[in-house]
Amino acid sequence: MKKWFTMMALALCALTLTACGGGAPAKSSGGSSAPSAPAPKSEAPAKKDEAKTDGKRALVVYFSRADENYNVGYIEKGNTRILAEMIAEATGADTFEIKPAKPYPKEYTPATEAAKKEKNENARPEIVGTMPDVSKYDMIFLGYPIWWGDLPMPCYTFFDKVKLEGKTVAPFCTHEGSGLSGTDRYIADATKAKVTEALEMKGTTAQKNRDEAKKEVMDWLKKIGYKK
Ligand SMILES: Cc1cc2nc3c(=O)[nH]c(=O)nc-3n(C[C@H](O)[C@H](O)[C@H](O)COP(=O)(O)O)c2cc1C
Repeated sequence: MKKWFTMMALALCALTLTACGGGAPAKSSGGSSAPSAPAPKSEAPAKKDEAKTDGKRALVVYFSRADENYNVGYIEKGNTRILAEMIAEATGADTFEIKPAKPYPKEYTPATEAAKKEKNENARPEIVGTMPDVSKYDMIFLGYPIWWGDLPMPCYTFFDKVKLEGKTVAPFCTHEGSGLSGTDRYIADATKAKVTEALEMKGTTAQKNRDEAKKEVMDWLKKIGYKK
């Protein structure tokens, strides 16, 4: 986590000096003046005809934030979501997105501040939608970005609502230098599920180098026993 914190500190310094976001990532599209998005609508898991992998039904649950992010500018699809879609395609799993009732700020620095406040308060931000019926699944792929060396707090809201004890959880995360940050252990503690070896990848790789990202995803699926 040290590396990301160093980069964050530098970015915040530059921000203070320029007082106009000079340390923030470059914009590639959209803009900070865009109106804030409405709260996402309820959604049951998206169903696929073949939701079976090696005889087990699988569900990909993920949290991912689009808009402005570190080193990628303004993005339309979150880094973790890109991996979630690759995993769902490779395994035929259903998908469920953890969506906060109150969207995070579109700009990077305010989003980090909002997330830090939630982490410090050990908050359980409200999430929207009908929660998935996990009795139908043996295997849960769980995707999230590293936020302040942890999972985003809406993931813990999900764990409170959806009991994963007895399931197998395969974590995958994106980050910008912190790696897994022990989040596999946090997931095991919070869910009492059996946790497999995790996949960790830089968000910039997922966003900008899809071929490499796909290769890493496929290698990981093979390693944990899931392949087409
Ligand atoms: C609120 C916030 C906190 C973050 N904290 C960390 C961190 O502690 N360590 C790190 O390496 N990257 C951190 N990042 C970078 C993200 O983990 C990285 O950009 C990730 O790929 C974002 O995935 P997403 O687009 O699916 O949300 C943070 C980003 C945000 C917005």
